[in-house]
Amino acid sequence: MRTTPEQPHRHGWGRRGTALVATTGLILTTLVALANPAQAASTLGASAAEKGRYYGTAIAAGRLGDSTYSTIANREFDMITAENEMKMDATEPSQNQFSYGSGDRILNWALSNGKRVRGHTLAWHGQQPGWMQNMSGSALRSALLNHVTQVATHYKGKIYAWDVVNEAFADDGRGSRRDSNLQRTGNDWIEAAFRAARAADPGAKLCYNDYNTDGINAKSTGVYTMVRDFKSRGVPIDCVGFQAHLGTSLPGDFQANLQRFADLGVDVQLTELDIQQGGNQANMYAAVTNACLAVSRCTGITVWGVRDSDSWRTGANPLLFDSSGNKKAAYTSVLNALNAGGGGGGGGGSTSIDTSAWYVLVNRNSGKALDVYNLSTADGARITQWTRNDGNQQQWQFTSTGDGYYEIRSRLSGKNLDVSGRSTADGGAIVQWTDNNGTNQQWRATISNGYATLISRNSGKALEVQGASTADGAAIVQYSSWNGANQQWQLVRVG
Ligand code: G3I
Repeated sequence: MRTTPEQPHRHGWGRRGTALVATTGLILTTLVALANPAQAASTLGASAAEKGRYYGTAIAAGRLGDSTYSTIANREFDMITAENEMKMDATEPSQNQFSYGSGDRILNWALSNGKRVRGHTLAWHGQQPGWMQNMSGSALRSALLNHVTQVATHYKGKIYAWDVVNEAFADDGRGSRRDSNLQRTGNDWIEAAFRAARAADPGAKLCYNDYNTDGINAKSTGVYTMVRDFKSRGVPIDCVGFQAHLGTSLPGDFQANLQRFADLGVDVQLTELDIQQGGNQANMYAAVTNACLAVSRCTGITVWGVRDSDSWRTGANPLLFDSSGNKKAAYTSVLNALNAGGGGGGGGGSTSIDTSAWYVLVNRNSGKALDVYNLSTADGARITQWTRNDGNQQQWQFTSTGDGYYEIRSRLSGKNLDVSGRSTADGGAIVQWTDNNGTNQQWRATISNGYATLISRNSGKALEVQGASTADGAAIVQYSSWNGANQQWQLVRVG
């Protein structure tokens, strides 16, 4: 039996203070709601975050000193990929001599600016250092696995997702593996690389990444068959990257292709998007954005560079900013698509609750995630919102009580979301507490258009971000349900 924490000061919110904050919260909430009726974010990263996704770019270390470039990159994007600096030739130029200077520069720039990082790439037939190009057989296999282990260990805990293996399938119209020195070490080289990566950095999502796999075709079906096999045999794979280097037309089955992979139980991401400039570039960018928004496991989009002049596709002008750093029509079209939320298609959140899943709960108003403050595992620890990082302190599992309510359990602590002191007041603090079957630990979930409202069984009040704050560390409280965006939560499945 639990002892209810009766002393309000224990959470730093006195009763009188709570009432005051609650009143202020209502005023603030109303003001924010009026001031920002459409919740239209003004940058790609912020808008994507409102949809529980990221919007990223590739960065070249050598360009970070260009202030036009770094200003745009910092303002618009919340996920960063090193364009070349974490590849095999960059990180292990001589065998067993690792070189992380340029990769670290990009990583540190991203992390210090509050962004996440996709690692690209641990194993690839391309951009191998000279010493590796000349290797074969078991010596090459060992060298490859050593490379995967060393690099993933160096970046352990700092990478959101690794492209573990890049471009291992051929363009032969038959869905075959690409011939390469790595492939010739044995067909199991890909799964061996995934297992080594998981062992080195268990916190990173592990992706397979390829091009010309954007529609349903022989190559993408080859990858699909491999991923299905990996999932059935427990090979650790979490995501599939679709490079999406596109010409002037989008495969009609682009979204369906993403969905069929998502249905295998992996996340999908567009990892190197660029689209040939032409009559319909802006429309194609919108269509790609909408396709991702319509697939709940499409977790984000990365464009392969900032300005057209930064692109590897010289002359194609395939990016969102022109060579002077001005926003192109394609940029506006992506931002509008993100803000519109994909034409009413679910908004990216789950539309039903799977009690075996782990979810990140992303607030509709702030784009931030429900978070156990300061990684606490203690009873009474406060729950706040924080920039999404998908850590265990941001992952929650729903357990049905069998009568329409759920307990919501932290992956970090194993404790339940709890209305502190069984409060029934507006502004009552939300904490974590050991499971005690109390009605103050039970929540009715109503999902509409991809957003869940969570109502306490004990108080009838809704889980909300106090005062519609958009700041890290803002308190989560209960408040009378009014359907505000700060009371709506996107359930983004992460496990
Ligand atoms: O920095 C050197 C420069 O000093 C030298 O004079 C010059 C001579 O060619 O080369 C420069 O390095 C180039 C490097 O980009 C940096 O600009 C390399 O030659 C060039 O090969 C390299 O190209 C990269 C390419 O991967 C290599 O395969 C592109 O930047 C990069 O955008 C591209 O990215 C790939 C993804 O990793 C995988 N998917 C396809 C995508 C596009 O090809």
